[in-house]
Amino acid sequence: MSQGEMTTSPSTTTLSTPPAPALPLHRRAARSLLESSWPLLKAGLFMLDAETAHHLTLRGLGTASRLGALKLLPEVAEAAPVTVAGLRFSNRVGLAAGLDKAGTCVDGFGAMGFGFVEIGTLTPRPQPGNPQPRLFRIVEREAIVNRMGFNNPGIAQGRTNAEASGRRQWKGVLGVNIGKNFDTSNTSAADDYVLGLHGAWEWADYVTVNLSSPNTKGLRDLQQDDSCRALLRILQGEQKALAQRHGRHVPVFIKISPDLEPAHLRSLARIFVEEKLEGVIATNTTLSRTHTEGLRHSGEGGGLSGAPLTERATALISDLARELDGALPIIGAGGIMDGHDAVEKLRAGAVLVQLYSGLIYRGPALVRECVEACAAAVREEKL
Ligand SMILES: Cc1cc2nc3c(=O)[nH]c(=O)nc-3n(C[C@H](O)[C@H](O)[C@H](O)COP(=O)(O)O)c2cc1C
Repeated sequence: MSQGEMTTSPSTTTLSTPPAPALPLHRRAARSLLESSWPLLKAGLFMLDAETAHHLTLRGLGTASRLGALKLLPEVAEAAPVTVAGLRFSNRVGLAAGLDKAGTCVDGFGAMGFGFVEIGTLTPRPQPGNPQPRLFRIVEREAIVNRMGFNNPGIAQGRTNAEASGRRQWKGVLGVNIGKNFDTSNTSAADDYVLGLHGAWEWADYVTVNLSSPNTKGLRDLQQDDSCRALLRILQGEQKALAQRHGRHVPVFIKISPDLEPAHLRSLARIFVEEKLEGVIATNTTLSRTHTEGLRHSGEGGGLSGAPLTERATALISDLARELDGALPIIGAGGIMDGHDAVEKLRAGAVLVQLYSGLIYRGPALVRECVEACAAAVREEKL
């Protein structure tokens, strides 16, 4: 591919691509069938409890993928491709962590048009997560409350799953989100992240260090300045050793909470710049219940995501971008429910975006809508 390049920051490069060829009719028909059947599918799924619907959807996607049905879908053409932390992203839109925690549907989500898919959170050892029920919809506000607690099969099984679910066929960027086991104390947390980094190194394109889930006791304390700086230094030492051993560098990103106080965000941003962090994902779910008070399930413990998070996450990205001043890239997440929300994240300073709750409420058509909206904004506004 020709790479007429325009540098946007030290760590990101926007690449130009030739126009996409017209899609064959049967592939366009398959895509519109998938997208138009979503309202019906959603009505059925929303009659089930949220976690049952989640597992059913993933199982369906896995089966469609194994039967080869996803090959009918047209590949989403490149749209405003960009190089971030040395990785080439074919478009700006990714799947946020938590939906494919176990890595069983990588090519299924890839076929929806995501430029990157982040699996996990994976911990060193498998763990069941919190007791059910632990996942709730607040339909009136297009929101989700979850206190899943890192239910996952462990990093080794995550690798097996991701490789079996299409890692070798799908050409997008694969992120692996890592966390600590619930019974690992914060004083030993670095050991778990080191194990996660080692476990992901040979098959991940990037690794996200999750310090911001509200559902693992004490996890967010690792965002404290001293803990965060110490952890970053340990991980960078490991990155050097692993790169030497395997002849390949894997960038590390940190995922932060939307509930950081402004002064704390500023000090963290300084640490990220000083320690030469390679990217930051903003944001995870919030503990705030603004916009959902009084509604059914709003009082459930856990993190809130979806539409009520949109503005809070965008504002935080904007503040963060001001502090970082282009020193490292921001991947924006939190309440992206349509193309406009995705573009607002780019305008606030993100270079890539991720979706989760929007996909549940708006279906797979949201991916293409966001990809196209972001590409148009990048082109027209030189974002
Ligand atoms: C049910 C559920 C599970 C999640 N699990 C994880 C997780 O394991 N690791 C993580 O980093 N983020 C997790 N997230 C957070 C999302 O990746 C995302 O940052 C957040 O939901 C905000 O985006 P959204 O409003 O588009 O959903 C989860 C979110 C939901 C709704």
